[in-house]
Amino acid sequence: MEIKLGNKKTVDAVEIIFLKKLDKKSSYYNFLEKSGFKIEKNSICFNYEKNRLYIGFKSKDKEDLKISIAKAIKEIKKTNFSNIFITLKQDDSLELDFAPLVEGILLSDYEFNRYKKSENKKLKVTISYEKSSYEKSLLEKELEKVKNICSSVNLVRDIVNTPPDDYYPEIMANDAKAIAKKENLKCKIIDEDGLEKLGMNAMLSVGRASRHKSKLIHLTYKPKNPKAKIVLIGKGLTYDSGGLSLKGAESMVTMKCDKAGGSAILGIMNSLNTLNLDCEVHGIIGAVENMIGGDAYKPDDVLTAKNGKTIEVKNTDAEGRLVLADCLCYAQDEIKDFNYIFDFATLTGACIVALGNHTSALLGHNEKLKTKIKKAADETGELVASLPYNRYFQGSLNSEIADMVNTAASRSGGSITASLFLDNFIEKKNKKKWVHFDIAGPAFVHKPWGYNPYGASGAGVRLMLKFIEDLVK
Ligand code: BES
Ligand code: ZN
Ligand code: ZN
Repeated sequence: MEIKLGNKKTVDAVEIIFLKKLDKKSSYYNFLEKSGFKIEKNSICFNYEKNRLYIGFKSKDKEDLKISIAKAIKEIKKTNFSNIFITLKQDDSLELDFAPLVEGILLSDYEFNRYKKSENKKLKVTISYEKSSYEKSLLEKELEKVKNICSSVNLVRDIVNTPPDDYYPEIMANDAKAIAKKENLKCKIIDEDGLEKLGMNAMLSVGRASRHKSKLIHLTYKPKNPKAKIVLIGKGLTYDSGGLSLKGAESMVTMKCDKAGGSAILGIMNSLNTLNLDCEVHGIIGAVENMIGGDAYKPDDVLTAKNGKTIEVKNTDAEGRLVLADCLCYAQDEIKDFNYIFDFATLTGACIVALGNHTSALLGHNEKLKTKIKKAADETGELVASLPYNRYFQGSLNSEIADMVNTAASRSGGSITASLFLDNFIEKKNKKKWVHFDIAGPAFVHKPWGYNPYGASGAGVRLMLKFIEDLVK
């Protein structure tokens, strides 16, 4: 995909025309009338003879624009056209928003074909700003910014889509190192010996049966005069078989997506330097594979986390929270005086039951902070919703023999009890600084929606970059 600014339309280019209404005086009226075209949201009509693609566009909403252009791009990919021309100033009543237009193109064009013979068709898009209210220099800047963000989203999609035999903790650590080198970040990798020395036995137990050694990845972005400091933690389960509490055949398929939280952290860290954000950001990933074997950790085991708390294992498939528990302790021990601590994880199937496939859950003790995050997310089109705590959940993780169990006896409110488990590893002084993101729903797309093709979506990247941008601007 190539997107450039330019006011010249080449003869072989197909022009995408957005229509708010059907003007009887227009040159296309007869054609569209005959083909039965109606101005409905995203209705589409191709005129192959005239190299034009018409798209019904009633709204000026940024998300609608991304979804509309995604539909047009998909349609054009089926044809032999490879050059596309779009004018921002459509007519007196409609000027397209530049950034969402570009974002819709770049995110919907994504295909994962590393394992296919066929390659993604290379489209060339020219966007004309003639007669628009935009200045060219501003558009150039905006284009670079959107390209950068989308390339990070697409990087996360590539990582999450890569099968578990080709993507395991060591590969994730290598990717982190490569990003650090390219983006001028500090990168520290802690191997199993190091984890043992730190007392991170909850995390270590989860990865014990895997032939791939667990890694803790710690990336740091430190600009000259940071206005804030935040810590991001990601669940990087490069595969979740469920462990001895083995998943069923069907629910195991797509569990390569269990690294989506950690991968989102890589995506976010990949953009900070280029976006020049004045915020110190620590990205910490627990990269682990949850497998079965003679050495596997077991239901009934009692694990001691880094902060000394003991956990009775009831279900080895609730492994993400064990990894995150130690990573949260590590972050609070190593990093001082941060403003916020966020964790991203495909933590519970219950979250999908509660909110569906498109929405991430926000959980934590700071309502204002969750509202602020929701505002940033809304700006980007990522969907989030807050799930509530209440007093009646208290005690649901009590253990007869340890400080807590890793799963509540009841499945109800599973995303809430999972985050209450994590809460045990948040120090008192940090309670209001913490928000947990359960991205189990949107992280992996089973049925394409909006501008998300099948597979990983890159959930979390756009919303967190926007949050940081707003925080330090
Ligand atoms: N990785 C899964 C959660 C998940 C499910 C992510 C579906 C994406 C799609 C997590 O480790 C898990 O297995 N959670 C269990 C918790 C249960 C044992 C309390 C679940 O959701 O069933
Ligand atoms: Zn699991
Ligand atoms: Zn998991």
